[in-house]
Amino acid sequence: MQPFVDDEQTRQEYLYLQRTLRDVSGLDLRAYKERQMMRRLRGFTSRKGLSSLRELAEAVRHDRELRQQLTDYLAINVTEFFRNPERFDDLAKNVLPKLLERWSSLRIWSAGCSIGSEPYSLAILLEELNAGGPEKHRVLGTDIDREALEEARQAVYTEDRLKEVSPERRRRFFTRLPDGRWQVNERVRRYVTFAQHNLLEDPYPQDQHLILCRNVIIYFTEKAKKEIFAKMAAGLAPGGYLLVGSTETIFYPERYGLKSAAPFLYVREE
Ligand SMILES: C[S@@+](CC[C@H](N)C(=O)[O-])C[C@H]1O[C@@H](n2cnc3c(N)ncnc32)[C@H](O)[C@@H]1O
Repeated sequence: MQPFVDDEQTRQEYLYLQRTLRDVSGLDLRAYKERQMMRRLRGFTSRKGLSSLRELAEAVRHDRELRQQLTDYLAINVTEFFRNPERFDDLAKNVLPKLLERWSSLRIWSAGCSIGSEPYSLAILLEELNAGGPEKHRVLGTDIDREALEEARQAVYTEDRLKEVSPERRRRFFTRLPDGRWQVNERVRRYVTFAQHNLLEDPYPQDQHLILCRNVIIYFTEKAKKEIFAKMAAGLAPGGYLLVGSTETIFYPERYGLKSAAPFLYVREE
């Protein structure tokens, strides 16, 4: 197998692969940071026994399964329940009570939800707030990655995803399976609906009261990030909140009709 080299030829092949993927699957690699993408593509190419990005491009053009495998592989699914717990404390103490005062039935969107621990964490907060149950409120979890969503629907997790889940929450909201994994209880699961959604392509859900988009846009170019923030802001009801990841400050939020409310938290202006 020929080693990859960062030369003009590799770059041309990368551009060719970009065009091919856009044609055949709608996945637009132009929106992702190039260096990071190249690294991951190299891993995938050698794992599949292919020797160049051009070969990979030809293969995905003809092989639907390989195309889906590549999309799944490029998506990075790291996540856990109550990731950055201080953010969830803030949601429970300040944001959700404010939203519940104003709206009796909440629409919450976890965008780029990976295997589902983020939307289930939100559902647990609603349960703890006695907010009226899963018939009243809806948490939508979306991701581009079909396999991650399949796992999310199973709602079964290994111990390492539950590092931030207290013993009390484990007792109340999870069932320990014989193999040692944890399943989210049925009542919590009933709050959450999952759907495949590409943040770069698909229309955004509208009239949301709270949107979480955390640790997703880090892979995107500045241009793509701006477009995503603008569409998220437009998808919020006035007075609704947007929470981004703990490395993802929005500069000049007023540009999108947003106001900073707390670190990494923004509110849509009335
Ligand atoms: C690191 S996980 C973040 C999970 C969760 N939000 C959290 O913070 O724990 C990033 C997720 O973004 C998804 N993703 C990447 N590109 C996407 C796109 N264009 N549209 C929707 N989701 C995308 C990946 O599939 C992955 O599951």
